Amino acid sequence: MIFLDNAATSYPKPESVYTFMDSFYRRAGVNPGRSGYDLCMEAGELLDGTRKLLARFFNGTDPNRLCFTSNSTDALNLAIFGLLKEGDHAISTTIEHNSVLRPLYHLQKYGGIGVDLVPFDGEGFVDPAEIRRRFKPNTRVVVINHGSNVIGTVQPIREIGRLCREGEMALVVDASQTAGKIAIDVQADFIDVLAFTGHKSLLGPTGIGGLYVAEPVVIRQTRAGGTGVRSAEKLHLEEYPYRLEYGTPNILGAAGLNAGVNWVMEKGFGEIQAHETRLLTMLWEGLKSIDGVRMYCQNSLANHVSVLSFNVEGMEAGDTGTMLDVDHGIACRTGLHCAPLVHE
Ligand SMILES: Cc1ncc(COP(=O)(O)O)c(C=O)c1O
Repeated sequence: MIFLDNAATSYPKPESVYTFMDSFYRRAGVNPGRSGYDLCMEAGELLDGTRKLLARFFNGTDPNRLCFTSNSTDALNLAIFGLLKEGDHAISTTIEHNSVLRPLYHLQKYGGIGVDLVPFDGEGFVDPAEIRRRFKPNTRVVVINHGSNVIGTVQPIREIGRLCREGEMALVVDASQTAGKIAIDVQADFIDVLAFTGHKSLLGPTGIGGLYVAEPVVIRQTRAGGTGVRSAEKLHLEEYPYRLEYGTPNILGAAGLNAGVNWVMEKGFGEIQAHETRLLTMLWEGLKSIDGVRMYCQNSLANHVSVLSFNVEGMEAGDTGTMLDVDHGIACRTGLHCAPLVHE
């Protein structure tokens, strides 16, 4: 089988991810941070070690500001609902995934939030000047997709970040498709909140992701519960990472994510990108040479992650996918993705 559905989730994972998850969970799969016995300490160290690893990976200044979530969707919900309040204005784009669009639409409908969506151009890129043009006195947040899960284009987040910094509004970056593929530097890129998922290019399992919240951004708490720390306090703890973490953490997921990130760091972005570019170019050149195949926003492969969309004239996308699967053992994604405005 040739697996080409890595934008949905990477598969298979490096062997070290499976073996470390298995060995760690058998040895120390207990509830971390709740007690002082040895295994509990070991589980806590794994969690905090993974926090440090990821904070370093994204060049964050404080590992405690790296909060674990279930995935990007969870992270983006925490950020969007926790940053915006009634009367605020938010800017985003038409290239977004539903994990950005739906929280924004929800707040637009029920939360008194104004939302502007900036369209991308014919090649799939958002012009930072178009974002700047929509700044209003009450704009609090700009939420931007870093790499598209439909057409693979990578947005100029550093330029957008610089504009947001000048305008004193928070930049939230959805790095679901880029974390683990492209170097992300929250300081140099002016990122205030970075949302990532563990199961794509960070090569961890499903069920874990996170949020890096740069100083001095304050995300309002929209949930509360147990943290294992200062349990007598009536209100949920205000300090990071507890501020945005609730209940028993996903220690098995953290183990897998730890092994996945270590694998990425050992390989290095250079080698990973060279490999993916070689495969993407092969596919791109092959598809270009077939009559009746139409690719989208793929005139050039510059500033693209390895996601490529195409249609075959006269065929439903689902039928093309079935043919690739049944006749050729190629697994890919077909039809409408969770970023409906890109398809429009
Ligand atoms: C661009 C983008 N944002 C957000 C998500 C949501 O990720 P998750 O399902 O892990 O929450 C995805 C997943 O496909 C994505 O591609």
